[in-house]
Amino acid sequence: MNRQRIFSGIQPSGNLHLGNYLGAIKNWVKLQDEYDSIFCVVDLHAITVPQNPEELRKKTLEVAKIYLAAGIDPEKCSIFIQSHVSEHTELMWILNTITKIPELNKMTQFKDKSVSSDVSNISIGAGLLNYPVLMAADILLYDTNLVPVGEDQLQHIEITRTLAKRFNKRFGETFVIPEPYIQKEGMRIMGLDDPTKKMSKSASSEYNYIALTDDEETIRKKIKKAVTDSGSEIVYCDDKPALKNLINIYSLLSDTPPKEIEKKYENKGYADFKSDLADVAVSFMKPFQKKMKEYDDEKVLEILRQGAERVRPLAKKKLEEVKKKIGFVI
Ligand code: TRP
Repeated sequence: MNRQRIFSGIQPSGNLHLGNYLGAIKNWVKLQDEYDSIFCVVDLHAITVPQNPEELRKKTLEVAKIYLAAGIDPEKCSIFIQSHVSEHTELMWILNTITKIPELNKMTQFKDKSVSSDVSNISIGAGLLNYPVLMAADILLYDTNLVPVGEDQLQHIEITRTLAKRFNKRFGETFVIPEPYIQKEGMRIMGLDDPTKKMSKSASSEYNYIALTDDEETIRKKIKKAVTDSGSEIVYCDDKPALKNLINIYSLLSDTPPKEIEKKYENKGYADFKSDLADVAVSFMKPFQKKMKEYDDEKVLEILRQGAERVRPLAKKKLEEVKKKIGFVI
């Protein structure tokens, strides 16, 4: 019963893609047997940039369907929508009051998002600046021990640790200090149109990613168009980053080691390799999407509501402890 707790979340914005699945969700599925796991759909984070309301609602359920289709089991762990547990926002406010503005200003994700935002500086919302404080609240509410995230989120885990320590020092032991849980291999799936950058759901070209909702024709077209390196042999090495990325995708989707794939294509070229990769991707995606369709909106919402019921008592208890310690009248 004394299992360590993990917490992670994905924003319901943009199109979830193979990179999200292979780099994150696939591992969560393994972790759920070993850890007391909480997986969240972080809609409050999504609205730090403008969202279309209907689209947001649709995406929120879609992310949950993706969790379920991937094999995250609501019997084993809790999946819920962040905004269903209002303690997240309440704790965030309190943590805000012990956060220093320069600590937020220096966050790389904030700097990137505020620069790349196509609108002018004036429209950068305060929510974008405070994003890491909300993430800290997500994590600290549940006495989380480990946070499985990509390397781009390490800075956010670091500030979460800072805030937890600061609060504990000032008001007494309250929060568990969480650790990031980075996959050993650190498998990062890169963009199909640019293997120097991570596959991204907010990429400007849809040829950057294979969305988990793409149909067969689109998948084949995107793989055909994927950039490759010079030369014609199929080799797995660092100076062929585009090919390496495609081999990684092939490898993870088919559970075949990269070296074996190399061998299989010894006397063949890109055309053969890519056409087989498309087959591999399609034969993963078809049953995946079929599973997604098995969950209608009502059914998913029911699972998400149950998830919220399960985690709410934990969040309530922690928030009450916090309120007492800082001097609120309960
Ligand atoms: N910021 C994370 C991302 O974009 C999403 C997130 C929000 C999260 N809250 C979290 C991840 C808590 C882990 C734990 O990837």
